[in-house]
Amino acid sequence: MSHNLLKGKRGIIFGALDESSIAWKTAEKVFEQGGSFVLTNAPVAMRMGAINTLAEKTNAQVIPADATSIEDLENLVEKSMEILGGKLDFVLHSIGMSVNVRKGRHYTDLNYSFSEKGWDVSALSFHKTMQTLYKKDAMNEWGSIVALTYMAAQRVFPDYNDMADNKAYLESIGRSFGYFFGRDKKVRVNTISQSPTPTTAGKGVKGFDGFIEYADKMSPLGNATADECADYTITLFSDLTKKVTLQNLYHDGGFSNMGVSQMVMDKFVDEQ
Ligand SMILES: NC(=O)c1ccc[n+]([C@@H]2O[C@H](COP(=O)([O-])OP(=O)(O)OC[C@H]3O[C@@H](n4cnc5c(N)ncnc54)[C@H](O)[C@@H]3O)[C@@H](O)[C@H]2O)c1
Repeated sequence: MSHNLLKGKRGIIFGALDESSIAWKTAEKVFEQGGSFVLTNAPVAMRMGAINTLAEKTNAQVIPADATSIEDLENLVEKSMEILGGKLDFVLHSIGMSVNVRKGRHYTDLNYSFSEKGWDVSALSFHKTMQTLYKKDAMNEWGSIVALTYMAAQRVFPDYNDMADNKAYLESIGRSFGYFFGRDKKVRVNTISQSPTPTTAGKGVKGFDGFIEYADKMSPLGNATADECADYTITLFSDLTKKVTLQNLYHDGGFSNMGVSQMVMDKFVDEQ
């Protein structure tokens, strides 16, 4: 349902790979709420071509950019302002990838060049994106920048591997850069800590089926879906959340404040 919450707002959405992507759902909802945007993803991720279907549906143009390349980011930001006809109001960073996870390297046996690559893609790219936006003065006042994260940044989820460290770093960048962006440009920066979600990145984590089920049974409201994450992101892009900044916002059905739930306890009690 459209309330035109984002009418007249312009932005960039990173990370829509296929229909299951959180960024894909977000793009659909931003469009529904009257926002216009440029879609971007790594050149390699575009070979599958799915992003063009989304672009057509949402009247968006696609600009390839490797989020670890400053040159690509500068081109993306400049072209986006040209295409959209002015400075930006929102940016979604929905990017994550661990080479160690992909190659099945255990956390106690990391390949550090894989770690560096994963850190650059998953964490430092958020700084690079914001630094590019900041230097080019590309954000309107009261704009909003959101990145996606996971609670493995605070608590141990053994199979999340080096992505846990990358997410901790990402969240810290959100706060540190958020200070300067707020003070100098009146732009807010937040991270959304989302429930486990069945996407390409999510399903790549070992033991995913187990921990998505566990999180669902632990959460009073159940896991948050990608669609619901998109809804939440819309609120953060809208003018209804102007003074929310430097936050890591849990969007997880209550999971992060639970100790144990009846459903989980029942699994450990012998049936009488
Ligand atoms: N799925 C989950 O369980 C879950 C939970 C919490 C947070 N998140 C986070 O949500 C975000 C989106 O992931 P998703 O679950 O929608 O999966 P996804 O696989 O659909 O999205 C990840 C995206 O990152 C992009 N990417 C990878 N390397 C890149 C690069 N060098 N430059 C630009 N883009 C690059 C991929 O092409 C892809 O579009 C990620 O930050 C992820 O860590 C996911």
